[in-house]
Amino acid sequence: MAQSTGLNKVRTAIFISGKGSNLKSIIKFSKLKKSPISVNLIISDNTKSKGLEYGKAFKIKKKIFNFKKKCIEKKIINELKKNKINLICLAGFMKILSNFFIKSFKGKILNIHPSLLPKFKGLNTHQRAIENNEKYSGCTVHFVSSKLDSGKIILQKKVKINKKDNAKTLAKKILIQEHKLYPRAILKVFSL
Ligand code: GRF
Repeated sequence: MAQSTGLNKVRTAIFISGKGSNLKSIIKFSKLKKSPISVNLIISDNTKSKGLEYGKAFKIKKKIFNFKKKCIEKKIINELKKNKINLICLAGFMKILSNFFIKSFKGKILNIHPSLLPKFKGLNTHQRAIENNEKYSGCTVHFVSSKLDSGKIILQKKVKINKKDNAKTLAKKILIQEHKLYPRAILKVFSL
């Protein structure tokens, strides 16, 4: 059977900072015939990011950038252009991108956030959801805009908070859903 060469897929860069489990699920999805994207570049701000190992395993080019350095975003943009990147997926990426950067890739940056936005933007979402006595939390994939965690929502998945849940158990349950939601959201973006 003829193998998909991936030549006509949308060239995608994934930005990570940590474990990279969402990166892994997106890479797996990208290998499917139905996937509109190919993962061609992994960008991290953290040399110790575990997710970088997946890049190695799947032979995907990776670049680490020191965000403390001046003009680093210009260098990243150059790298993205050099690799003909047309979609950016932020997946557990902990740095805030500038308006300049976001405008340079307008409508082409997605993010996953571990809450039911617009609730609980920012950090410590699970703890805050529990302290707020929420019955449900979940995850959201959205377009990135200049306001933190505020861009147009693409898809959300609700997850029930049980009485016994703590931030750790809730994070675990939500992460499982994140791995399914991100690929679905990518499919949705390209069917719009
Ligand atoms: C995920 O919960 C994501 O929503 C949040 O950070 C976590 C990253 O997990 N922004 P991983 O690095 O993809 O495993």
